[in-house]
Amino acid sequence: MKEQLANIRQQAVAAFESAEDPAALEELRVKYLGKKGELTAVLKQMGKLPAEERPVMGQLANDVRAALEQAIETASEKLQEAALAHRLNAEALDVTIPGKTPAVGHRHPMYIALDEIKDIFVGMGFTVLDGPEVELAELNFDRLNAEEGHPSRDWSDTFYFDEDSRVMLRSQTSPMQVRAMDTMDLPIRIIAPGRVYRKDEVDATHSPMFHQVEGMVIDKGVTMGDLKGTLNLLMEQLFGEGTVTRFRPHHFPFTEPSCEMDVQCHKCGGAGCPTCKGEGWIEVLGAGMVHPNVLRMAGIDPEVYSGWAFGMGLERLAMRRFKIADLRLIFENDIRFLEQF
Ligand code: DAH
Repeated sequence: MKEQLANIRQQAVAAFESAEDPAALEELRVKYLGKKGELTAVLKQMGKLPAEERPVMGQLANDVRAALEQAIETASEKLQEAALAHRLNAEALDVTIPGKTPAVGHRHPMYIALDEIKDIFVGMGFTVLDGPEVELAELNFDRLNAEEGHPSRDWSDTFYFDEDSRVMLRSQTSPMQVRAMDTMDLPIRIIAPGRVYRKDEVDATHSPMFHQVEGMVIDKGVTMGDLKGTLNLLMEQLFGEGTVTRFRPHHFPFTEPSCEMDVQCHKCGGAGCPTCKGEGWIEVLGAGMVHPNVLRMAGIDPEVYSGWAFGMGLERLAMRRFKIADLRLIFENDIRFLEQF
């Protein structure tokens, strides 16, 4: 029996050491240590031994069992280490392969133009205001000196929410002038960019929804000279030094006198070309001295204070700034177009 145990020990340990994977090792464990295993078979014969030999053999058998268990443990650890080494090898990263550049978005060209405009005005001490797109007709028209019967109030020009034409989608950002005068302390210097809505058909230069930037200054002793100086500076900063401008008389209900501002065509330098429709000039905004009635309705004394204001279309300005030919491109958001800016 002693010999049997020694044989088992020798064979088993050698077998465990040469097992190639965990499954083979487990099979060997069952073979030697399982219920029907070789060691168990020897132990079952223990009963046949003379009583005085049993403790010695028992001790020996236990030693063999412990030795086998230890050998299995060692073999198993070796297999695990080998498996890990194999995996690390197989999954090795090639850090020299070029990476994938993530697609990062960027600002829309119109908002690039708007940010430039905001920077210029903030640099001159203006505050940027935001206001509601659903507006009271009272602020969009009445408080801006455009009374009942004014053509821009017509149902064919304006989106109203109710039968009695009290609530509407603002048709201009000019009601922000009224909101500023009603809520801010004098003197006031504001710009107010935002969406406006008109019943227009979509074409290369029109859309029922577009953006304007409103601006207004109210202080003591403000003149038309301030208006021209500020707006000329704006155009030079946007379109480059030496940009030529002109002011034409016009009419708006909320300014007196009123004007429109043109910028000389960048394409032909004023000679006339398709870009400027042969005129040599491109209209960029409407402006004027705030009408005394508008000041009075806001509780500001026109004998003490005066002001100037302007409103410009942001899409048209971005189109000129980036030489975009069709307004619809601004709204279609085709990535191939947007990626160019
Ligand atoms: N609100 C005018 C429009 O939509 C533009 C405008 C003209 C705004 C003169 C002004 C201004 O503030 O003074 O056509």
